[in-house]
Amino acid sequence: MRHPLTRESMVDQLPPRLSVLRLGHRRDRDKRITSHLGLTARAFGADEVVLSGEEDPSALETWDSVTERFGGPFTSRYEPKPMPWLRSVSKKESATIVHLTMYGQPWRETVSSIPKDKPVIVVVGGTKVPGEVFQISNYNVSVVNQPHSEVSALAVFLHSFVGPLDGKESFEDAKMKIIPSEKGKIVINQEEE
Ligand SMILES: C[S@@+](CC[C@H](N)C(=O)[O-])C[C@H]1O[C@@H](n2cnc3c(N)ncnc32)[C@H](O)[C@@H]1O
Repeated sequence: MRHPLTRESMVDQLPPRLSVLRLGHRRDRDKRITSHLGLTARAFGADEVVLSGEEDPSALETWDSVTERFGGPFTSRYEPKPMPWLRSVSKKESATIVHLTMYGQPWRETVSSIPKDKPVIVVVGGTKVPGEVFQISNYNVSVVNQPHSEVSALAVFLHSFVGPLDGKESFEDAKMKIIPSEKGKIVINQEEE
C-alpha cells in the first residue's frame, strides 16, 4: 500500500498536503538547483513546491510547464513570508514541519515516526537557514550527516516517506508519456492521438 499522502489520495483534497518549501532562493545563483528541486518534488510525490527568498517567476513557469506536459496534480507558488507561515503552522499544529539538514537525526530512524494523517511541509535551505527553523521544526532530518545537495536530500527523503512512484497511475492528465525503453527514447504525445 502506498503512503496516504500520495498523489491518488490528494486529488480531491485542498490545500495540498505534502509541500516542499524552498527557503532562501537566490535568483542568479540558485536558478538551476531550485528548478531541479521543484522537479524532484513533483517526480517523487509532493503536491506542491513553495518558493521563498528572491522572487523568480521563471522557476514557477518551469514547474508549471512540466506539470502541464507530464501530468499532475502538482502546484507551485511563491511565499513572500515563509517564516510567518511556518510559525503559524507550528503554532496551530496544522502541519508537520520536516527540516532537511545535515545536522539532523538520521532519516532511516526518523521517517517512520512522521505522522501520515496530517499535512507535511518539507523545508530545504538555500542560503543559511535561520536557527529558528531548527526549533520550530517537528523533525530535523539528515540524509547522511555530511554536506551535499538539497536535491539529493529531498529525493532520498521523499522516496522513503512517500514510497516508490513508478506506477502509470501516478500522474494524471499527462499530455506526454514516456514509455520505458531498453534503448532509445519513446514518448507518446497523447494530444496527437
Ligand atoms: C547545499 S546546503 C547549503 C546550506 C547553507 N549554506 C547553510 O549553511 O545552512 C542546502 C540545503 O541542502 C540540504 N542538505 C544538504 N546536505 C544535507 C544532508 N546531509 N541531509 C539533509 N539535507 C541536506 C539542506 O536542506 C540545506 O539547507
